[in-house]
Amino acid sequence: MPPAPPEEEMRTFWRLRSGCTIHHEEGGQDDGAARLTVRYADNAYPIGACAAASALALDRLREGCDEPRLAEAAAQEGADAIAIAHCLHLLVVLRRYGFVNEVIAGAAGEYAAREPMSSHLSFASSPLPQARQARLRLSRFALLSRHEGEAVLESPLSSWRIRIHDPAAAILICRLMGEGMTVAAIEEAGKRARTLAGWLLACNLAGEIDAEGHLPEDTDPDLRFWEFHDLLHARRSRSGGHDHPLGATFPGRGIVEPLPAVKPAMVSRAQDIVPLPRADLESACRDDPPFQAVVEARHSIRAHGRDPIRLEQVGAFLYRSARLIERVPPAPEHELFYEASRRPWPCGGAAYETEIYLTINNCEGLDRGIYHYDPEHHRLERLSRDEGMVDALIETAWHSAAQTVRPQLLLTLTARMRRLSWKYRGMAWAVALKHAGVLYHAFYLTATTMGLAPCGLGGGNTELVARAIGIAPAVEMPIGEFMLGSLPEQP
Ligand SMILES: Cc1cc2nc3c(=O)[nH]c(=O)nc-3n(C[C@H](O)[C@H](O)[C@H](O)COP(=O)(O)O)c2cc1C
Repeated sequence: MPPAPPEEEMRTFWRLRSGCTIHHEEGGQDDGAARLTVRYADNAYPIGACAAASALALDRLREGCDEPRLAEAAAQEGADAIAIAHCLHLLVVLRRYGFVNEVIAGAAGEYAAREPMSSHLSFASSPLPQARQARLRLSRFALLSRHEGEAVLESPLSSWRIRIHDPAAAILICRLMGEGMTVAAIEEAGKRARTLAGWLLACNLAGEIDAEGHLPEDTDPDLRFWEFHDLLHARRSRSGGHDHPLGATFPGRGIVEPLPAVKPAMVSRAQDIVPLPRADLESACRDDPPFQAVVEARHSIRAHGRDPIRLEQVGAFLYRSARLIERVPPAPEHELFYEASRRPWPCGGAAYETEIYLTINNCEGLDRGIYHYDPEHHRLERLSRDEGMVDALIETAWHSAAQTVRPQLLLTLTARMRRLSWKYRGMAWAVALKHAGVLYHAFYLTATTMGLAPCGLGGGNTELVARAIGIAPAVEMPIGEFMLGSLPEQP
């Protein structure tokens, strides 16, 4: 019998996660105890006091070490048995708070590491299934991407990040992505692969497929209908369970100027500017139906009248719901680092990144075409008279409205994203979507008050809108559509 191949060399150890440092200060106590503070992401976390020798030993975690080596280092620094035990306990504390990664290394160097994105996670590993023919597959929610200059595997269903240090680990992950791998194949791939597979199972990044080839997430009545991008966006645009930057951190400050509160003019020729009639707000306040009557009467109307909507109605509608009331200059002393504005509808950060475009299909007093609403001067800018483009946009709306009506007027909303991404991390698109929803409701209530036919739309063609308006989606992202027209005649 040929001799069995030597078992692959492999070890796991702990290492402080990147950006995390441990600081120790003499506590001024007689026993020479040091106070320990962990600094991470601009925050300081006191984690207790320990003997100076233990504190020095913990420095080994910068490079990485396992428990026996940590104990050895503490002894070398002069720690007694109690101080050594305390040092090991502090490693447990660091793990509990998510300040250390666990690394798999072999003879060829580091293979992969797992990094907690939240505190109080268990660094447990799942045993591989007993049956050698059992097949493991990566979760369809897992995502390979670049993070801090490294390839990483993450998932909105997991609070763990796998850092890939060796292409061999990436190969294992890619094999698990498609058909999956049998336990036998994983065993054959060696100890490092086995350990990583155990982590993937424990961290909810992979699972065992059933006889039909499904993971539990594929048949679970809730999870099976979540789409990858939806779940990722839902989890990443709110805090909790991940460590990605989130909130008003002003990533653009000092790098680029914030966009102005109002989009600069889109046309230069006077003949392309259409002044809009204004609403008489005084008589509206006096004569409009009571608020609750409007709320009760509001519904979506997917039919328009024989007589088209009129220019003065379009003007009054936009004036009531979407005009700019005033610009608000930056006021850094109040943490307002960009120009904001006031408008009739509420908007996070008073950013008002939402732009409104009108596709006029049939409106008395306004030619067919595509227009931009200038909320500051309350006027329209004619961008195009392209009949084919008007027809294409109206046709898309007709399909979205279950082929019920070709709207007299289609309002298209876009988001000037840098207004938000200059300020917010992780949540800019989520905030923009919320703003679109707020504006939809302002449109609904205004239209109902005015006796017009409103209907929000959930689907639109980003490429078509971008071409029609002449914008790059990354700069100004189409976000929603809304139909408006005259009320249909009563049957
Ligand atoms: C964000 C949003 C998207 C919508 N998308 C569509 C759509 O694509 N097609 C459609 O016919 N109605 C759409 N509607 C209208 C809804 O179907 C309607 O509001 C819902 O059925 C409730 O009826 P009501 O508005 O008459 O109270 C949408 C409404 C909203 C607020």
